Amino acid sequence: MITVSKKKMSAWSGDMLAVLVVPQADGSLHIEEPVLQTYLAKAGKSGDFSGKAGQSFLLYPDDDLPCRRLLFVGLGDKPKSREEIRLAGGLVGQKAMDIKAVTLAVAWSDVDLAMQDMGECCTEGLLLGQYRFSKYKKSIADDEKPVFLKKISFFPHEAVAACRRGVRLGEVAARAGKTARDMANEPGSGWTAEEFAVFGRGLSTKSPITCTVFGTRELRRHKMGGVLAVNQGSEGEAKMVILSYRCPRQDADTLLLVGKGLTFDSGGISLKPGAGMEDMKYDMCGGAAVMAAMAAIGEEQPEHVNVVGVVPATDNMPGPAAVKPGDIISSYSGKTIEVINTDAEGRLLLMDALAYGIKNFKPSAVVDLATLTGAVIIGLGHHYTGLMSNDDGLAAKVQEAGSRCGEPVWRLPLGEEYSKQLKSEVADLKNVGGKPAGTITAAAFLQEFVGETPWVHLDIAGTAWNFTEKSYVPKGPSGIGARTLIDLVRNWA
Ligand code: BES
Ligand code: MN
Ligand code: ZN
Repeated sequence: MITVSKKKMSAWSGDMLAVLVVPQADGSLHIEEPVLQTYLAKAGKSGDFSGKAGQSFLLYPDDDLPCRRLLFVGLGDKPKSREEIRLAGGLVGQKAMDIKAVTLAVAWSDVDLAMQDMGECCTEGLLLGQYRFSKYKKSIADDEKPVFLKKISFFPHEAVAACRRGVRLGEVAARAGKTARDMANEPGSGWTAEEFAVFGRGLSTKSPITCTVFGTRELRRHKMGGVLAVNQGSEGEAKMVILSYRCPRQDADTLLLVGKGLTFDSGGISLKPGAGMEDMKYDMCGGAAVMAAMAAIGEEQPEHVNVVGVVPATDNMPGPAAVKPGDIISSYSGKTIEVINTDAEGRLLLMDALAYGIKNFKPSAVVDLATLTGAVIIGLGHHYTGLMSNDDGLAAKVQEAGSRCGEPVWRLPLGEEYSKQLKSEVADLKNVGGKPAGTITAAAFLQEFVGETPWVHLDIAGTAWNFTEKSYVPKGPSGIGARTLIDLVRNWA
């Protein structure tokens, strides 16, 4: 869909030609091709466009330019970061939707960024900015229906091959982000545990990924007491979806990815308050990120690392057979847990998924993603994902991947003091550690099930939706985590 060429952009005809502009040191604006320079100079002289970041200006060219519209987008003083380009790309994507463009060309000048990064981030921003979930809007007027770009052409003035490589990376990553958003946007009734299973099986038919799905029978056989307990109050069956990609290298590391696939969280018997409960359809965003990342891994087929994805999935409902506060449950690991609060259900899913994945795939590193605690929103707001880890090296790797992707993470501590808060009088552990440090005690609970394996836990409760407002992140679910996981796999040493 995106082509890259060195042709003259001024000769391009189509719906919109977007030019990303960097103002010169003296504030003047400059593009190489003379026809375009005339328009840019006019826009600058009028005072309507100075080239600062976030600014844009749309105009309708005369007969000297074959494109229907010309859009100038400001990049500000010599942009150096991948995120700045992503943001500019997102703005172009939004403007293209405003005018219902189907064909788009993009060009730029004077950017202090490698051409591959330029292609990658511009593509990501553009495609992620072109997102709308309108599946359930049945009675909108034709002129309100979203129109998406069909053909995009990039015109770098040099390093066409590097730009093209970047574009391919960006396309895969953006698709994964959008896939995760699509899953999340489905309501609890539209995306159940079964849908995770269907998606996983679909991957195994179109890519070199094997998919195993545990239903009630297998969950019982494996003594997955956590997943079964959370599912007790539900009408539908719980599923554990296990995806495995094996690379050609014999001695490669295995990376285990685990995502919380809680398709609707009512809180169970410890019922949540009504206000805002509808947002709990997003409680499967960790699972969505892992599934979408696995889809990308199936496409890219990395040569240097095996990747296993495990998504435990169910809703959390207060049906007549639901698990009750005070109940003591078993787990795959053999440890027993006193359920103090049935709303602390995510950790009960993850404990079985982590223990199973580690025992059966012997990974050299584990990353889990979960909308695990409201407390992380109090601590970090909607701007950073909370990271907790037992391994500094892995924590640094994930932090690096997140910052390359515009998905920043902030590390919180772990330690004995926090683990002590989980001591139970009647079982090996209890599932809540009291009010103080709710995000950390949730992670401390998970830590009991990972042993010595290097592990990172990402609490995405604040960033999975209502994430920092950005041109390429719409309202609603952000798709967070999918691109960070893909980046982590791509850069796995
Ligand atoms: N899914 C919620 C966490 C959550 C809350 C995510 C708000 C996004 C927004 C999780 O299952 C939960 O209910 N956690 C409880 C834990 C508590 C009972 C220890 C919470 O955070 O209140
Ligand atoms: Mn809950
Ligand atoms: Zn939950």
